[in-house]
Amino acid sequence: MQRLLHHFRKSHDVACNVSCIISVNPIRDVACNVSTIFCAFTFHSMKVNGTPFHTIWLHPEIPGIVQVIDQRKLPFEFAVVDLLTARDAFDAIRNMTVRGAPLIGVTGAYGICLGLLGATTGNWRTELEATASLLKSARPTAVNLAILVDEMCLALADCTTNEMAIQQAYREASRFKDREIAWSEAIGENGLPLIEEISRKKNGATVNILTHCNAGWLACIDWGTATAPIYKAFHKGIPIHVWVDETRPRNQGARLTAWELSQEGIAHTVIPDNTGGHLMQHGMVDLCIVGSDRTTLNGDVANKIGTYLKALAANDNGIPFYVALPSSTIDFTMHDGVKEIPIEQREADEVTTMEGVREDGKVGSVQLVNPGSPVANYGFDVTPARLVTGLITERGVCSASEAGIRGLFPERLG
Ligand code: MRU
Repeated sequence: MQRLLHHFRKSHDVACNVSCIISVNPIRDVACNVSTIFCAFTFHSMKVNGTPFHTIWLHPEIPGIVQVIDQRKLPFEFAVVDLLTARDAFDAIRNMTVRGAPLIGVTGAYGICLGLLGATTGNWRTELEATASLLKSARPTAVNLAILVDEMCLALADCTTNEMAIQQAYREASRFKDREIAWSEAIGENGLPLIEEISRKKNGATVNILTHCNAGWLACIDWGTATAPIYKAFHKGIPIHVWVDETRPRNQGARLTAWELSQEGIAHTVIPDNTGGHLMQHGMVDLCIVGSDRTTLNGDVANKIGTYLKALAANDNGIPFYVALPSSTIDFTMHDGVKEIPIEQREADEVTTMEGVREDGKVGSVQLVNPGSPVANYGFDVTPARLVTGLITERGVCSASEAGIRGLFPERLG
């Protein structure tokens, strides 16, 4: 810590983008004194109890330290966690304090900064390599993590000293963060016409959108991916209602998406994961929008487990099924999602237990499954491109195909 403070006293510019402090305790908000967090964000739209928030930022008082919202505690408690070391960043990604592909990527980028702060000056480059592989190993499916960590290392290639690398790393991480925000907002703008079109066809009646997991601002930095067009449409006054899949086993839909939508005042209904097909058969879903953790060049999409089943049901019922994603989620090296994307398998207790508020008002977990029965916990599945109506990206909407992706990102391919 001494070294960290010393370093930043010498190089105040890196931390000086922290220009103001807002504090809230929005959930347990018993007149909690307003004075926590916040930085010089150019764009910040998403709010917690009316206060604009991002999911990750630099500590306003202790230079170099990274702060994140603890997503494991939402919606029952709003808590902020300090990340002091690369190991902290690794743990936060692995234990899902932070989650969602774009946020995992940016946390990885800041993890590199923290690793450099803790590095021994002589061996900083070797330690950087070790930090990069540690961070990349935290979660396997969301490709954003590997892409951003690699981009960070590339950006540091010309640095000759640890001091120089630290400066450059914070600049780059902050640039990646801003880039994700801009991309999320662009996804919102590009997806908006799809919702407007349905609204027109329905003569202004409520547009019902189904989403799975949390591909909202919590999974990103601001706006979200799947939710970005929803927020844009809502802000434009289009009547919207969102069907929120609860998303077992960790209930990101019931806990996080529902919370986000409540904070924005958007009408929504949480449904058990098995309900979507029934709603679609009865004309109660106009459009599905989900996020992605990795999209291959041919347009296959890995997303939270259960996404594939919704895509099948949407296809059977002629309902458009869109995937919203920034280009940081595209794996330009893979051509077959089912065969190639590594699918994370997670701990059994996520399936055997569930956490919630007990009758005594305390948060706790209960056993759900017959004790001793084996369980399987695949974190993600792959929706083949043929079931995806289109990809909503920061550069526009394209078909889920190599031609579509090439058309929007020609410079990324030979
Ligand atoms: O396991 P998680 O919660 O990190 O999974 C997140 C998802 O599957 C999201 O829907 C996906 O990352 C898209 S995030 C914009």
